[in-house]
Amino acid sequence: MSKVATIVLAAGKSTRIKSSRSKLLHEIAGQKVITTLTKTLKKLQPDQVVYVVNHQKDKIITEVSHTFSDFDWVDQGEPKGTAHAVKKGLEKLIKFRGDILILAGDVPFLSLSILEKLVTRHHLNNSIFSLLSFEPENPHGYGRIIRKNNKAVGIIEEKELKEEEKKIKECNGGIYLIQAQWLKTAIDKIENKNKKQEFYLTDLIYEVPSDSEITIIKTPPEELLGLNTRTHFAQGEKIRKQQLTKKFMEAGVGFLNPDEVYLEAEIEIGKDTIIEKDVALKGKTVIGENCRISQGSIISDSIIEDGALIKPYSVIEDSVVGNNTQIGPFSHLRPKTVVGDNAKIGNFVETKKTRLGKGVKASHLSYLGDAVIGENSNIGAGTITCNYDGTNKFVTTLGKEVFVGSDSQLIAPVTVGDNAYIGSGTTIMKDVPPNALAINPKQQKNIAGWNQDD
Ligand code: UD1
Ligand code: MG
Repeated sequence: MSKVATIVLAAGKSTRIKSSRSKLLHEIAGQKVITTLTKTLKKLQPDQVVYVVNHQKDKIITEVSHTFSDFDWVDQGEPKGTAHAVKKGLEKLIKFRGDILILAGDVPFLSLSILEKLVTRHHLNNSIFSLLSFEPENPHGYGRIIRKNNKAVGIIEEKELKEEEKKIKECNGGIYLIQAQWLKTAIDKIENKNKKQEFYLTDLIYEVPSDSEITIIKTPPEELLGLNTRTHFAQGEKIRKQQLTKKFMEAGVGFLNPDEVYLEAEIEIGKDTIIEKDVALKGKTVIGENCRISQGSIISDSIIEDGALIKPYSVIEDSVVGNNTQIGPFSHLRPKTVVGDNAKIGNFVETKKTRLGKGVKASHLSYLGDAVIGENSNIGAGTITCNYDGTNKFVTTLGKEVFVGSDSQLIAPVTVGDNAYIGSGTTIMKDVPPNALAINPKQQKNIAGWNQDD
């Protein structure tokens, strides 16, 4: 099979989304648009890749370099249209023989299989010019494919459409596979005699010899959404979410309501896990098998191990939750919390930079920050680690099987030995040896007849 090089058009000014940032650096499902496209492209394993950049080029190049270690880029200079961009891209492909796949940076939801189909059919038909078309619900803004006797004979941009042509539903996806040798000469014939005074890549269709078949693959519209406006970005979030929930359901993950979750592109979920509604899973979160993530929980950049139960409205950030552990409802695990297996963190418990050993229970209303808590310890309701003196943070260390009575404060730095017992309402100001009972005796006085109801 002949070689495939790719030119990615990524230089446009993104005027229609009215943002100071290039649209390719905006995120959908927590992933930059240019990265979503680049990751799919990488799977195709093209022989050479050229990004045509200009607006915010340094940021775009840096973003691409997170995925591709080896790629070329060229600065388009003042962007003068998609054909001008391709012409610039060809400067890096002077010696290349084969076919050139042209991708629009703002069309990121393409599947690998449709790209493979484009390559296969292009070769099968011996085409020199092939493209993807689609029928979006609202074709406004896209170039329309003009057919005569079912054969494609033209592509007309929205601004140039005559009234009756606006009814045409079949649109140009902006993705092409073109024989390199032909492209290198045909591109020079394109002029900018149109309303936008741009060099339209779509005009290439008029240069295709009449005896050469133009391969057009009709593609599911969700794969060809072009992100030009904020409305397109909102549609993009919906499409990406549907792609992600479908992928996970096919892998055995259950969703009580797949339309009402928020999932980001890089998350992983194991089979037999159930995701309830209004759950958000963000960043590089990995959820194991047989977990349940209950309504309203938000988990980012965390690892939730097999069998864990995250009860409603818990927030977990950059943390690890062990096997069969229960969190919530209304728990907040802040960064660098590590909870061991079979533990239980309950209502209104906040943790930060804290290690809780296996079997630890902190069931109600506590703040545990900068702490190490040994296995099977029990943290009573209202326990607070006083980790901050206004300038520095200090560590609280508890051994194994420690019992902390309710409403206790541990003033760090402090260490409590294994099996120690802290009485309710105690303020721990110095270390407690193993097996000891720590209390701050306070005497209770009952004053008889205090309340005199006559
Ligand atoms: C383009 C097609 C249109 C198609 C649509 C599909 C043309 C003339 N029109 O329109 O037929 O239906 O895509 O989504 O090609 N870019 C550059 N340099 C430039 C101009 C654009 O690199 O000088 C890049 C943009 O950053 C963008 C891509 O090319 O990623 C497409 O450009 P855009 O302006 O979005 O074209 P559309 O109007 O969407
Ligand atoms: Mg576009």
